[in-house]
Amino acid sequence: MSADLSPPLAALLELTHRCPLQCPYCSNPLELERAKGELSTAEWLRVMDEMADLGILQVHFSGGEPAVRRDLADLVAHAHKIGLYSNLITSGVTLDQPRIAQLKEAGLDHVQLSIQDVDHQTAAFIANYPGVQGKKLAFARMVKEAGLPLTINAVLNRHNITRVERMIDLAVALGAGRVEMAHAQYYGWAIKNRAALMPTLPQVHEATRHVEAARERLRGQIVIDYVLPDYYARQPKACMGGWGRQFLNITPSGEVLPCHAAQTIPGMMFDSVRHKPLAEIWTSSPAFERFRGTDWMPDLCRTCDQKEVDWGGCRCQALAVVGDAAATDPACALSPKHAVLRALADDAASQPAPDFVYRRMTPQDKKTALAATTS
Ligand code: FES
Repeated sequence: MSADLSPPLAALLELTHRCPLQCPYCSNPLELERAKGELSTAEWLRVMDEMADLGILQVHFSGGEPAVRRDLADLVAHAHKIGLYSNLITSGVTLDQPRIAQLKEAGLDHVQLSIQDVDHQTAAFIANYPGVQGKKLAFARMVKEAGLPLTINAVLNRHNITRVERMIDLAVALGAGRVEMAHAQYYGWAIKNRAALMPTLPQVHEATRHVEAARERLRGQIVIDYVLPDYYARQPKACMGGWGRQFLNITPSGEVLPCHAAQTIPGMMFDSVRHKPLAEIWTSSPAFERFRGTDWMPDLCRTCDQKEVDWGGCRCQALAVVGDAAATDPACALSPKHAVLRALADDAASQPAPDFVYRRMTPQDKKTALAATTS
C-alpha cells in the first residue's frame, strides 16, 4: 500500500439483492443480481478475513435485505470472532424475536432500521408492501428488548417530507440513539423515479428548519444526521468520503466497488473477490485508481481550495447529469452545468408526481426471493 493510502474504514457487504420491499429509491442497480450468483457462506467468511487483514474495522451487512440469507448469524459470528464491528442494515420485516436473539448471541453490535414514513398508509405505498409499518415498529421494539443499539434511517422525498419531525420523534420513542434523515440520492432506482420523488425547494427549506428545531429540542437524547439533497445544494458532498479513500462495497456476486452506483459508469471493470485478493483490489485495481486523489480532476476542481474537502463530489452524479463521470459534479455552484441540475429539480418537483417505478426483480428472481433460503 502506498504511503498516503490508508486501509478503508468500513466495507458494505451487499449479501443479496433479494428484498421483500420495492422502494423506488433503492440504491441497488436496475439489473439485480440473482440468488444463484451470490457468494457462498465460505466465500463471505474468507472475504471478511481479508477485510480484517487489510485493516478494515467495520462491516455493514446490507442488501437487498440481508436477513433473507439464512447464514446471516454465521457471518455475524465470524465478524465478531475476528474483531470487526458489525452493523445490520435491514428493512426489519423478515426478522422475528428468535432470530434477533440469535444475531445478538452471535455478537452483532448494531442495527440500522429503515422506515419509509410515520404514516402507515404512505409507508406501505412507498415500500409497496401492505402492513410494512406495523412490522417495522414491532421489529424496533424487539431490537431494543434484545439490548441492541438502534439507528433509524429514512429517505426523504416528496411523499414523506412534511413529516420529518414526526419521523424523528418516532425514532426517539423507539429508543434509537441516532436517526438519519437523508434526502433521496438520485442514482439507481431513484433516478428512474426522480420526478416521483423530488420535493420542492420550499419543502426542503421547511424540512431543514424542522430538523434544526428537533436538534435543539432533543439535544442529548438522540443524534440527528441530516443529508441535504444535491439537486438544491451549492457545494458537492464528499461522496463516500472520496473515491477509494475510506469505503468499499462488495456486490452479492463479489465485485468490489468504490461506491454503490459505480457500475453505472461505462467502460469500468470491477475486480471480484472471487478472482483477486481484496488488498490488491483496494491498492491497485484500475477502478479504484481511476478517481482516487486529485490528479484525475478537471482544472476547475484541481485548482479549487475545496478539492481535498469534497474530493470532487460524486462521479456517478456527474455521469447521470452531465454525461461524463470525470466532469465537475453539477452540485457545485461553480460547475457550468449547475443550472441544469437545479432546472431538473424544479421541473420535476413542479409537476404532479407520476406513478412509481417500483424496484422489482424479474418474475424468475422474485420466485427465488420468496423462497428466501440460501447457503
Ligand atoms: Fe458513485 Fe457518488 S455514488 S461516486
